[in-house]
Amino acid sequence: MNNFAKWIKPRREFGDICPVYLREFCVENLADGINDGADFAASGELQAKLTITAFGCYEARLNGRRVGDYVLAPSWTEAAIFPAKAKRNRGRLQVQEYDVSLLIEENNSLEITVGRGWYRSPLAGRREEEGRDPRLDMPPALTARLEIFFKNRLIIMETDEKWLVAESPVIFSEIYDGETYDATQERHIADKYEPVEICPAPPVDIVPQQGEEIREMDRLAPAAVFTSPKGEKIIDFGQNITGYIKFALPENTPGGAKITFQFAEVLDADGNFYTENLRTAKAQLCYICKEGVLCRGETQEYTPKFTFFGFRYVKVETDVDVAFEKITAVAVFSQMRRTGWLASSNANLNRFFENVIWGQKGNFLDVPTDCPQRDERLGWTGDAQVFVKTAALNYDVEKFFAKWLEDLAIAQLANGLVPHVVPDTQQGRGGSAAWGDAATICPWEIYLAYGNKKILEAQFESMCKWVDFMTAGAAEYIWDSGTHFGDWLSLELPCPTIQPDARRGATRHDLLATAFFAHSVGIVAKTAAVLGREYSQYETLRDRIIAAFRQKFPENDFRTQTEYVLALHFDLAENPQAVADALAEKIKADGSCLMTGFVGTPYILHVLSRYGYTRLAYDLLLREEYPSWLYPVTKGATTIWERWDSIKPDGSFQTANMNSFNHYAYGAAADWVYTVAAGICVLEDYPGYARVKIAPQPDPRLQWLSARLDTRHGTIFSKWEHMSEFTRYEIIVPVSAQICIGDKIHEVGKGAYTFYEPR
Ligand code: BGC
Repeated sequence: MNNFAKWIKPRREFGDICPVYLREFCVENLADGINDGADFAASGELQAKLTITAFGCYEARLNGRRVGDYVLAPSWTEAAIFPAKAKRNRGRLQVQEYDVSLLIEENNSLEITVGRGWYRSPLAGRREEEGRDPRLDMPPALTARLEIFFKNRLIIMETDEKWLVAESPVIFSEIYDGETYDATQERHIADKYEPVEICPAPPVDIVPQQGEEIREMDRLAPAAVFTSPKGEKIIDFGQNITGYIKFALPENTPGGAKITFQFAEVLDADGNFYTENLRTAKAQLCYICKEGVLCRGETQEYTPKFTFFGFRYVKVETDVDVAFEKITAVAVFSQMRRTGWLASSNANLNRFFENVIWGQKGNFLDVPTDCPQRDERLGWTGDAQVFVKTAALNYDVEKFFAKWLEDLAIAQLANGLVPHVVPDTQQGRGGSAAWGDAATICPWEIYLAYGNKKILEAQFESMCKWVDFMTAGAAEYIWDSGTHFGDWLSLELPCPTIQPDARRGATRHDLLATAFFAHSVGIVAKTAAVLGREYSQYETLRDRIIAAFRQKFPENDFRTQTEYVLALHFDLAENPQAVADALAEKIKADGSCLMTGFVGTPYILHVLSRYGYTRLAYDLLLREEYPSWLYPVTKGATTIWERWDSIKPDGSFQTANMNSFNHYAYGAAADWVYTVAAGICVLEDYPGYARVKIAPQPDPRLQWLSARLDTRHGTIFSKWEHMSEFTRYEIIVPVSAQICIGDKIHEVGKGAYTFYEPR
C-alpha cells in the first residue's frame, strides 16, 4: 500500500500541542458537477470510505461526528524508528478504513487530530547518554484518503496542499504522562487554521489493519467516593483496569477552571493515594473548562483521546463542582472474543480467575504488554510467552498474536536476535532466553489453540532464525553466553557475588538458557513436520542439546524449583519420575509453597500433576498464605500482581521501582485449571480441538469446578462435583473425544455425557 496518499504536517513546530488538520469540501465541487440535486446521504446511493493513518495516534471527526469506534488508532506496530545494532526489516504502519457513507453531507468538514501516541512518545528503553529522543522530533504527520462512490463515479479526496492545520485544544498528550485539554481553545480554532506542508512519508511500509481494533470495551461506575486521611478526594472504581474516564460538567461550570485527575492502582497502608510505583509516569489528565455561559442543558463532556492509564483509583483536584459519582471508568483493550470461563466452589479461586481475565484485558491493548501503568507498558516478549497459552483459552487471540508476531519477525535482527520488547524501543537490545523464545512458543501455542497452520507458515523463518541465534551463542550445545533475565522475580535468591541482580533469581542462567534452547528447537522440529519440511536436523540438534544438558547439569544437583521444573516440563530429565519426586520433596522442604519466578511458574503445576503429585499441585493452587496465587486475592487484588509480595504480609509495598499491580505473567496458572483440573486437553495431532481428550482431576477441597471453552469446533464443557458418595462429571464435547474418568477411558462421539465415580 505504499504510495498511498501524500503526507502532511504543520509548517511550523507545534511543540507539545497536538495539531488538528482540516479539510472542508463540498461533494458537488469535488464531483465536478455530477450532482443533480440529489441528497447524497439520504439517497442511499452514496458510499464513502475514509482511509487514514498517522505517525502517532489520530482521531477523526466528519461533520462533528467521530469516525468509527477504534480508539488509539492506528495503534502500534514495529516502525523500526531506532537503528538497531544489526540490520533488520523495514517497519510498518497500519491504515484503517472506515465506512463514512452515513456521515457525508453536501458540505463537509473533516477534522483529524494527531497525538504523539506510541510512535512519538518518549517510551522507555533509551539511555540518557544516547542524546535527545528522535521520536520527539518526528513530525505529527498524517495521510488520509476519502473515496466517494456516487452514481457510478468514484470521487477521491486526499491529504494534499489544500488541507489546513491548527493547534488543537489537546495541548499535551503522551502515553505515560497523560493528556491536557484546554476547552477554552475550542472557540478560537476556526481563526487559527494555517496551510500545511507536504512532508516525506515516514520510512515504513503502509499495511492494512491486521490486529484487532482497540475499543472501549467495559464501563464501570464508581464503587465509592471518599476523602483520604491526607484530605485527597478519591474515586474508587472497585476494579483495577486499563483505560480512562469519561465525565460531563454542568452548565454553570466556570470557564477556565482546571480539573486534574490522577490515576493510581492502590492506596497505601494508611489509605492515601499511592503513585510511587508508576515511576516517572505522571499518569495525569487535566481539563480546562470552556469559557462563557453554556446554553441551558448543554454540558461539556470529555474523554482523553491519545493516552490511557492503569488504575482503580482516581484523585480529583479542582474547585469545580464535579459530580464524582457520575464519572465513568472506561476499560479500553483489543476487541477479542471471550472463549473461556472457569468457575469453582471456592470464592477466592474464582476471584483469581477474574483477576486473570482483567490482567488480560488490561494488557492486551493491541500489543501484549507487561503492565499498563508505569513508564513501561511495552511488548515484553517473555511475559507474552509465559501467558500465551492461558490467553488463548480465555479469548480468541489468533488475530492479535498474528499481528504481534509479524512485528516480532520484523523487529528481529539479521542474526536472529529477538529484541526484549516488540515493538522494539530499545535499539535492538535482546537475546534473553525465555524472552526471545516468544518467537517459537507463541506461534506454536496459537497453532494448537486454533488449528491454523498459517501462523506457522508466517513465522517459520523467524522461528528458525531464533534457533540459529541460540546455536551461535552455544558452545558444545550449552548456551552459556549473553545476558539473561533468568527466572525473573523468583523468590529463590542468588548468591550476591555471583549474580548481583537479585531479581534474576538463583536458577543458573546457562541451565535455563540451554533448557529453552532444547525446547525451542523441539518446537521448530514439530513445526517443520507440520509444514511438510525437512525436520530431522532439528531433532538431531535437540538430541545433542539434551545429551549436553544431562552431562553439564546432573539431575541430582538441581538447585531451585525452576531447575527441576524446566528439566521435567521440557523432557530433558533422564529419570523424570525421580526428578519429580525430588521436586515434590523440595517444595515440601520449602514450606509447601512455590518459589518460582516468571519462567518456572507457568509449568510447576503441570509437572507436579504429570508425575503423580496432583494433590501437591492443588496445595499450591489453593494456598492462601504468602507466597501463593491466592495470597494477593486475600489482600484485595483485582488483577494479577507483578510480585508474589507486591503488598507484603505486613501491609508494606515491595520496592516501588518494580511493583506493578497489573502484570499478567503469574496468571498463567489458569491454563492448568482448564487443562488439568477441568481436564480439557488439546491434542497435538488434532490442533484446534478437532478431537479432544477430557481428563478432569478433582480435588476433595473443592466441592465443584467447571470450565467452558468455545473452540472453533464448538463449545466444550467440563464440570465435576462431589456428591455424598460419588463424584459426578458433566462433560459436553462438540467433536469425538477420549474421556478419562479415574482409570477408565471412554471413547465417545460428540454429545453430552454424565459419569459417576465412587468417592
Ligand atoms: C518488565 C517485565 C519484563 C522484565 C524483563 C520488567 O521491567 O516489567 O515484565 O519481563 O522487565 O526482565
